[in-house]
Amino acid sequence: MTEFDLTIRGGTLANDKETFRADIGIIGDKIAAVGPGLAPGRRNIDAAGHYVLPGGIDTHCHVEQLSGMGRMTADDWYSASVSAAFGGTTTIVPFAAQHRGKSLKKVAADYAALAAEKSVIDYSYHVILTETDDVTLREDLPALIRSGITSFKVYMTYDALKLDDYQMLEVLAVAAREKALCMVHAENTDVIRWISKRLLEQGYGAPKYHGTSHMHLAEGEATHRVIQLARLFEVPILIVHVSAREAVGAIQMARQAGLQVFGETCSHYLVLTAENMDLPGTEGAKYCCSPPLRDKAAQDALWKALKNGTLQVLSSDHAPYRYDETGKLPYGQATTFKDVANGMPSLEARLPILFSEGVSKGRLTLPEFVALSSANHARMYGMYPRKGVLAAGADADVTIWNPVKKVTLATDILHDRTGYTPFDGMEITGWPETVVSAGRVVVEGGRLHAEKGSGRFIARGVPEALATDREISTEAYFFRALADAKRTK
Ligand code: URP
Ligand code: ZN
Ligand code: ZN
Repeated sequence: MTEFDLTIRGGTLANDKETFRADIGIIGDKIAAVGPGLAPGRRNIDAAGHYVLPGGIDTHCHVEQLSGMGRMTADDWYSASVSAAFGGTTTIVPFAAQHRGKSLKKVAADYAALAAEKSVIDYSYHVILTETDDVTLREDLPALIRSGITSFKVYMTYDALKLDDYQMLEVLAVAAREKALCMVHAENTDVIRWISKRLLEQGYGAPKYHGTSHMHLAEGEATHRVIQLARLFEVPILIVHVSAREAVGAIQMARQAGLQVFGETCSHYLVLTAENMDLPGTEGAKYCCSPPLRDKAAQDALWKALKNGTLQVLSSDHAPYRYDETGKLPYGQATTFKDVANGMPSLEARLPILFSEGVSKGRLTLPEFVALSSANHARMYGMYPRKGVLAAGADADVTIWNPVKKVTLATDILHDRTGYTPFDGMEITGWPETVVSAGRVVVEGGRLHAEKGSGRFIARGVPEALATDREISTEAYFFRALADAKRTK
């Protein structure tokens, strides 16, 4: 009988559909067996009284990336991957961002090299598309998709990043043809621009006006619009970082109509509100992100949407900009909401918050937690069942949770380099104590045991929503529509 390299014994396990008692036997980087009473291995971890869950997957985080405003994130691939690991996450999927005029092929190759040199856990990346020229859409993007980068993000706002509706149709057509998942940042750019201009003219520049300008209608309208655009190609889309009730409503309606529309929200929207931006001076800048934090009613709608399946993935949208002139405050105290770098750090706090507010407070079952934190990410982005499940043959990515451990979140217990946490003082019940990534115990006893660059690139397959034999193509749609038109003439 083959001896296990590592066993995890006596814990309560969960996948996305069930909770059960079993041991896990690991050989090399794979789970070799899951079942009761496994023979001891060369090394054994006693998980009695603990939850043993698939390692977290964070498919929306900004790492070693220049923002649309030209600000560099405080975290590189090393600090971000370390921080993720301490938070119970074993796979991250950040963004290689194409800025205007740049070659997508080169952007992706440069980013891949940074990741390979530094990540301590497994990783992949998406691309952010800002160009829709022929080289980008006919050569570079299809080649990347075929090499395992099977998702990309596009923006409907931010001057330096946004696509207009025509460009959106162009990229959706590629997503349909090449079977890639299009992730959409949905906010109506002109609504934001119109309100911002008037606020600034009247001297309202404080951080809290960020929320006023990025109002919920802007998010609702853009979400509805891109859903209609995607219908042209019958192509699945994912609306990322949903924060407004209107956006939840648009996704829910689309899904009820049978459309393949998916939604993501983030930990900060579940526990913070727009009031956090209303602090003296520029302090509220720490809480500026887009779409912005909203109100308690929006929070309740998000929890409900996570529970009823309207939203399928909970990500961090980790966007670590320091509270200084390199990030949040380029003009010091004179910085208006329009120049604040958008986003906040939450790679490490994402899962403890979801566990504490979800599982410990009775809002989520353990399988629901696994689905939102890991399994649905793996399915959505073409990594299932290699990742996102505790089963023989899967990668040995396992997080062992102490469900009763109490921790108060604070900047100095976290491992990112942002220099602040928006969750300072938050009481957490349930903590990821031991983290196994590809068979290696990378976090144990509050210490890191992983070398820089030891994480592996994961070439992703076709996202589950696109893994269909049905022909989805612009041409098919066009000829069908033309045939219909001729018939009714
Ligand atoms: O405010 C945010 N979310 N910043 C990060 C960039 C993005 O749009 O996701
Ligand atoms: Zn975004
Ligand atoms: Zn983001």
